[in-house]
Amino acid sequence: MLNMSEGYYNFKKNDDICGDVCAQHGSHVASSMSRLRCILRGLDFKTCIFFIVVIPVSIFCVYLHGQKISYFLRPLWESPPKPFHEIPHYYHENVSMESLCRLHGWGIRESPRRVYDAVLFNNEVDMLTIRWKEMQPYVTQYVLLESNSTFTGLIKPLIFASNRENFKFVESRLTYGVVGGRFKKGENPFYEEAYQRVNLDQLLRLAGIEEDDLLIMSDVDEIPSAHTINLLRWCDEIPQILHLQLRNYLYSFEFFLDNNSWRASVHRYQTGKTHYAHYRQADVLLSDAGWHCSFCFRRISELIFKMKAYSHNDRVRFAHYLNPERIQDVICEGADLFDMIPEEYTFKEIIGKLGPIPHSYSAVHLPSYLLNNAEKYKFLLPGNCRRESG
Ligand SMILES: *[C@@H]1O[C@H](CO)[C@@H](O)[C@H](O)[C@H]1NC(C)=O
Ligand SMILES: *[C@@H]1O[C@H](CO)[C@@H](O)[C@H](O)[C@H]1NC(C)=O
Ligand SMILES: *[C@@H]1O[C@H](CO)[C@@H](O)[C@H](O)[C@H]1NC(C)=O
Repeated sequence: MLNMSEGYYNFKKNDDICGDVCAQHGSHVASSMSRLRCILRGLDFKTCIFFIVVIPVSIFCVYLHGQKISYFLRPLWESPPKPFHEIPHYYHENVSMESLCRLHGWGIRESPRRVYDAVLFNNEVDMLTIRWKEMQPYVTQYVLLESNSTFTGLIKPLIFASNRENFKFVESRLTYGVVGGRFKKGENPFYEEAYQRVNLDQLLRLAGIEEDDLLIMSDVDEIPSAHTINLLRWCDEIPQILHLQLRNYLYSFEFFLDNNSWRASVHRYQTGKTHYAHYRQADVLLSDAGWHCSFCFRRISELIFKMKAYSHNDRVRFAHYLNPERIQDVICEGADLFDMIPEEYTFKEIIGKLGPIPHSYSAVHLPSYLLNNAEKYKFLLPGNCRRESG
């Protein structure tokens, strides 16, 4: 208040001086000249403050929060994609497959389709185990491709190869491929990702995929539920391409975000036509078809590796984002690793999701292998946010 009124008085004085000056000069031109000079003098102080303080501070704020500002304003510059046609999903363990197919408007086949599960592997060893165990009864061939380069062009050890002995349960049904990275400096990570997906197409052909086999295209951490795959392999007339709606979790099944994961898809394979992709390829979305657990790692070091490796590594804007103690705190709070605003299309949704994700204490309807091995995977269950160090 004091400063404010001082400023006011300074202003007043300035006006008085100007008044005097103007009174002294008779001529019209001279009077307006000095008046201009006075006005400029009056502005001087404020202008200086503006240039010295306000502009640099604003630039610094935009530097720190530019991403947030643009994400917050996203509803203004980007309209939401065309909504999916979400189809109802019926399931109960006690209902026969014939009835389940009929409920979906499909017929039942005499024998189930063969099922190919194909993934690009980075370093998600624990999620891969839970994924493969979940779908184990129904998968014909597991296809996994690994590169010695991350999407962002960092050298990566062949992590699957060095853990292969832990995956003996799929050995007889496994097609494992390695592709050399291209290590192009400064390239957009999406190119390396696309290159690896093209190689995955070739590996699928080597694995013997045929017309009308079921092909699951998804990241390792997007896990279709077993009964969903069983339904799709048994029913006739299912759509050629079907996206799967998965429940989104972050860090573990303690932090349920929303039901909006849709990138995973299931295809009836068409030779020469089906290409491995991780973007939207159809309009049909099967409701409640599994789980997507992002950044669900046992160790902080694995999580840091993923932050640097994946296609959105531009979100690591400051070195301290990779500080292990900070990451541990972020996980326990359910906060955002990259300090970002929720990626939504309406202000209502953005505001609704600001701040940390609330804790969930439900461990109902999770992958059965996880609950049957709860001690080994307790970092994925509610109440266990502390990660193993190293
Ligand atoms: C499942 O079906 C069996 C036999 O039809 C019945 O005895 C049992 O109560 C059912 N269980 C549930 C959970 O509905
Ligand atoms: C990556 O793998 C390819 C093919 O296996 C190999 O030729 C290349 O030397 C490897 N690069 C590095 C940096 O390990
Ligand atoms: C997500 O889907 C489940 C099952 O369909 C439903 O029970 C739950 O309320 C949904 N949650 C949100 C946040 O949409």
